[in-house]
Amino acid sequence: MTDNRNPEAAWTYHDATKHSYTSIRTNPHFMDWSNQPLPFKIYPTLEPMRLPGEVRQTGVAALSAIAESVPAHTNASPDLEAVAQLLYLSAGITRKRSYPGREIYFRAAACTGALYEVELYLVCGDLVNLEAGVYHFAPAEFGLRRLRAGDYRRVLLEATAGEPAIAHAPLTIVCTCTYWRNAWKYQARTYRHFGWDNGTLLANLLAVATALGLPARVVCGFVDANVNSLLNVDPQREVAFSLVALGHVAALPPPSPEKISPLRLETVPLSQREVDYPLMRETHSASSLASPEEVEAWRGHTSATDIPPPAGPTIQLQPLSDVEMPRDPIEQVIRRRGSTRKFAHSPITLPQLSTLLDRATRGVPADFLDPPGAQLNDLYLIIHAVEGLTSGAYVFHRDRGILECLKEGNFRADAGYLGLGQELPADAAVAIFFLADLRPILQRFGNRGYRAVQLEAGILGGKLYLAAYAQRLGATGLTFFDDDVTRFFSPHAEGKSAIFLVALGHSAKHKPA
Ligand SMILES: Cc1cc2nc3c(=O)[nH]c(=O)nc-3n(C[C@H](O)[C@H](O)[C@H](O)COP(=O)(O)O)c2cc1C
Repeated sequence: MTDNRNPEAAWTYHDATKHSYTSIRTNPHFMDWSNQPLPFKIYPTLEPMRLPGEVRQTGVAALSAIAESVPAHTNASPDLEAVAQLLYLSAGITRKRSYPGREIYFRAAACTGALYEVELYLVCGDLVNLEAGVYHFAPAEFGLRRLRAGDYRRVLLEATAGEPAIAHAPLTIVCTCTYWRNAWKYQARTYRHFGWDNGTLLANLLAVATALGLPARVVCGFVDANVNSLLNVDPQREVAFSLVALGHVAALPPPSPEKISPLRLETVPLSQREVDYPLMRETHSASSLASPEEVEAWRGHTSATDIPPPAGPTIQLQPLSDVEMPRDPIEQVIRRRGSTRKFAHSPITLPQLSTLLDRATRGVPADFLDPPGAQLNDLYLIIHAVEGLTSGAYVFHRDRGILECLKEGNFRADAGYLGLGQELPADAAVAIFFLADLRPILQRFGNRGYRAVQLEAGILGGKLYLAAYAQRLGATGLTFFDDDVTRFFSPHAEGKSAIFLVALGHSAKHKPA
């Protein structure tokens, strides 16, 4: 196994999976519909236990839920109903649509290609109405399948080298990613999508946890092999990507009931055949941690370069206060979220844009973001239509709450080109590009820093989706031509890498209120 500390593997992967005008036009790949993967992981020999269907309303405003978190030591434990809410609102089926020859089951969080490669597993002690165990979440049946009976939380505690949030969490949700389900369409670029799609899901999960009064913490530092064995996944196909510790109880988990042995559980093959993209497995292996000592050295002490102080004209953001902001509850906003398929050119207001940026970037509780509030990605914007702002390219100074103008002009055509020649980023009111200086990040976190930076982007992107829908605006994630994005925002963005893109504005379907 390549050492995580030698970040060459992450650079190789990143460079090899860049999109460019030429790479897109010369790629002979096509989607083989006859071999389309199943959207669900199915254990045919295990009966699912149905989750309560009626989702309790928290009534907590989405714009508060995405921006805040519950203090880490608040005693709180989810009951079965809360577990159902967390699962439904992060990975549940919220819409079904029929197309000729197929049905798509749309889920609570946005996901590249609607392919839903992220699976959720629960590792819990005894909860109200849910016995201790390791469970797989089955969205199709809205149920849980128990893979192991008994309290196995100590396995996670050891795998995370005593991470305090895991130590005191009555429940940890483990998110895994399945290569083939997404690579069927996106080939080797799928490993980036793991971070994006896991991230949008976590944006929902974190917001719902806050609304339910549960402390939550994202944990990316763990001994990979131990977590994969606990879940009994085949790491050639499916790998644990992130953990979310939920709730807080004083007692530490008891010793595990048994040594972890393989379960030999049958699962339904996703397709008749799978195409392997070894580069992804190599990147995953090179970003894996092999011992608790390695995990301990890995977490915390974020290093990311600060944006230099503004040198160009600046605009102070005007976010809405708690009193002024729309108060639609988180569950309502998640249920009406969908990716905007066509944007109107109509402008949004400066307070709307300010609220989006302010609420989405108030910090993510994660083991790779220390001190709290640290952020790996920088936000660059192409503003087409925001009342009171000159159209142009901007960079967001989060610490000062300002936008700095990098260049003025109508860049709709550029935004469309950068977003892989799609109309969405050209028609939206604003396109927000996430760029990161990977050098200090990979220097500090090794190859696993690459997982972290993609995951953080997905979480912030997911929060932007929710902040948009909370304000009755639309949003969509997008993919992009990597180096052209950096070039567009240079010299300011010189040396940075393009990580994520989201377009925001009024949907062409709805007239602005
Ligand atoms: C990171 C990310 C990138 C995406 N890229 C594109 C894209 O390039 N073009 C597009 O039309 N939709 C894109 N989407 C939208 C997805 O197709 C959409 O989320 C998926 O079909 C599920 O639908 P929903 O978001 O309406 O629930 C992207 C979504 C995400 C999360």
